[in-house]
Amino acid sequence: MKILVTGGAGYIGSHTIVELIKAGHSVIITDNLCNSHKNAVARVEQITGTSVPLYAADIRDSAALSRVLDEHPADACIHFAGLKSVGESNSHPCEYYDNNISGTLNLISVLRAHNVKNIIFSSSATVYGIPEKSPVTEDCPKGICTNPYGWTKWMAEQILTDLHNADPSWNIVLLRYFNPIGAHPSGLIGENPNGIPNNLMPYITQVAVGKRECLHIFGNDYDTPDGTGVRDYIHVVDLARGHVKALEAIKRNCGVALYNLGTGKGCSVLELVKTFEAVNHVHIPYVIEPRRAGDVAVCYSDPGKAERELGWKAEYGIEEMCRDSWNWQKNNPQGY
Ligand code: NAD
Ligand code: WQD
Repeated sequence: MKILVTGGAGYIGSHTIVELIKAGHSVIITDNLCNSHKNAVARVEQITGTSVPLYAADIRDSAALSRVLDEHPADACIHFAGLKSVGESNSHPCEYYDNNISGTLNLISVLRAHNVKNIIFSSSATVYGIPEKSPVTEDCPKGICTNPYGWTKWMAEQILTDLHNADPSWNIVLLRYFNPIGAHPSGLIGENPNGIPNNLMPYITQVAVGKRECLHIFGNDYDTPDGTGVRDYIHVVDLARGHVKALEAIKRNCGVALYNLGTGKGCSVLELVKTFEAVNHVHIPYVIEPRRAGDVAVCYSDPGKAERELGWKAEYGIEEMCRDSWNWQKNNPQGY
C-alpha cells in the first residue's frame, strides 16, 4: 500500500516507516519538523536503502496537504503528527487543542477530499485516565484525563469513531500505546527530545552520556514492590510492527478497531534503572524526589486483543530496550 505518514520524522514515525518499507509498503511523509529533524528521514533512507519523500507540511495547512496527496495518491494514512508533552499541554492548552484537534480535523477533511478513508491513529494509554486496575483492557472505560494532551487523544478518538459512524466506508484503527522506549538496533534512529526530557528513558540515557548529573525518581512510596511507579515499557520497533499489522486489519475492512499496544508486563522505575546499568555497564546516579503530580502507581496493558485479532505481540524485553536506547544515545550524544 501507499501510506501518507504524518509526523513521520518523529520518534515513533521514523521507526514505523522502516518497518513499513520492510513489509513492502511505500511511504510519503508530511511533518512540520517542530519536534524532529530531517536527518531522521535520511537515516531511515540509509537503513532501508529506499528514498522517502519528506514534505515540510503542517497538518493544519489544507493546501499543502492537498498538494502532497495530488502528487502521491495514497491508500491509507498513519497519523502520528501531534504535540506530546504533558507538562507543556498544561501551560499551553490552546496550542495543544489547535495542533492535535484542529490538525486532525483538517487532515480528515483533506483525506476525504482525496477519497483516502483508511486511517491509523496514535492514541495513548493516557485516555484511560487513572485506571482502576491493571492490566488495562480496551473495554475499560475511557477515563477523566489528567491533562489537556490526554484530552486531545480522548477527543480525537471520539471524532474518528463518529466519522466512521456517519460514513462506514471509513476504516479507523485506534492504537493506544503504553510507554515506548528503545531505538532501532542499528543505532541510527532513536528518541531525540528537545531540552530536558520529561520521560524516564531519555532522562536515563542523558545521565548515562554525561549530559545530566543524576536521575530524579519521582516517588518511592507507591504501593508497588519497590515503591516506585510501574509502567508497561514497549520497544519502539515492536510498536512500529503493530502499525504494519494494523494496515492488514484495514485491508480486511475493520470498521473502527481499537487496540492496546504494550507488552502486558509491568516494570518499576528502579527495575528499569538497574536493568539499564547491568546491560550497559554504566552507572546511573539517582535521587528520590516527591511524587510527580498526575502520576499513577501502576499502569500496564492487557495486549491480548491485538494478539488475537492482529496476530501482533511484543517480542523484545526490557534488556533489549535498555541496550538499544543506550546504543542510540552513545552513538548520537547530540541527537541528530
Ligand atoms: P514526536 O514528537 O517524536 O513525533 C511527532 C511528530 O509530529 C514530530 O516529528 C513533529 O515535528 C510532528 N508534528 C507535530 N505537530 C505537527 C503538525 N501540526 N504538522 C505536521 N507535523 C507535526 O512524538 P512520538 O513520540 O513519535 O509520538 C508520535 C505520536 O504518538 C504522537 O501523536 C504522540 O502523541 C503519540 N504517542 C506517543 C507516546 C510516547 O510516549 N512517545 C505515547 C503515546 C502516544
Ligand atoms: C514513567 C515513570 C514517572 C521521569 C507519559 C505520558 C503518557 C505517554 C507516555 C504519550 C513514572 C517516572 C519519569 C523522571 C521518574 N505519552 N519518572 N523520573 O508518565 O507513564 O507516561 O509518557 O501519550 O501520556 O503521561 O511516562 O516516562 O514520564 O514516566 O521517576 O525523570 O518514570 O514518575 O513512574 P508516563 P514517563
